[in-house]
Amino acid sequence: MDSRTSDTASKSLQKPDARVEIMTEISLPDMNDLCDAAALAIDNGGGFGWLRRPERDSMENFWRGVIAMPLRHLLIARLDGVICGAAQIVMPPPNNEAQAHAVHLVSVFLAPWARGHGLARRLVERAEAKATSDGFKLVNLDVRETQQAAINLYESLGYQQYGLHPHYAEIDGTPIKGYYYFKAL
Ligand SMILES: CC(C)(COP(=O)(O)OP(=O)(O)OC[C@H]1O[C@@H](n2cnc3c(N)ncnc32)[C@H](O)[C@@H]1OP(=O)(O)O)[C@@H](O)C(=O)NCCC(=O)NCCS
Repeated sequence: MDSRTSDTASKSLQKPDARVEIMTEISLPDMNDLCDAAALAIDNGGGFGWLRRPERDSMENFWRGVIAMPLRHLLIARLDGVICGAAQIVMPPPNNEAQAHAVHLVSVFLAPWARGHGLARRLVERAEAKATSDGFKLVNLDVRETQQAAINLYESLGYQQYGLHPHYAEIDGTPIKGYYYFKAL
């Protein structure tokens, strides 16, 4: 094997660079990648509430809104530098003293091309670590019964199901059940 062939072979064996981070601002290239990843997840049926792609302007405004909200943290996943998924932590408002101990984890998704690299697990673990370091004691989340990969992910991370909503979502007129989970940190 000449050196060029062996370089090519070793490059193709390299694992992609997978990482997660908390975003406090979104550059233009990152915004493009985030919108692309979300659009592909929506097309694939896992669009955190969206059933059809919104207009690009609406999607960009949505992400700007997430960054601007003081009671939200946006976590993103990158594969070889490209944003391919995200998750959000929603903190309780100051008036909700009775639930000041708990955050909600929402809008967890990976673009289909980036799945299977452990990035969703790392997003959830990073969200839990952030919530813990901010003094929270509990994470709540909910998920459609049809999102089996997400259900497996949450249960493998120790989330306990405590409720079932019989009409949690409705898709093309069909009611979809939803499961409610919590995890003590
Ligand atoms: C759920 C989702 C984020 C998982 O993404 P991912 O990158 O494949 O996840 P990971 O590689 O980190 O895998 C973590 C775990 O998820 C579960 N999982 C992932 N893909 C799965 C599949 N196809 N079938 C069953 N379980 C699966 C497994 O428990 C897996 O752990 P393991 O690798 O030890 O078996 C992704 O499938 C997705 O975006 N789905 C649509 C959106 C969605 O359902 N979001 C949740 C809304 S609350």
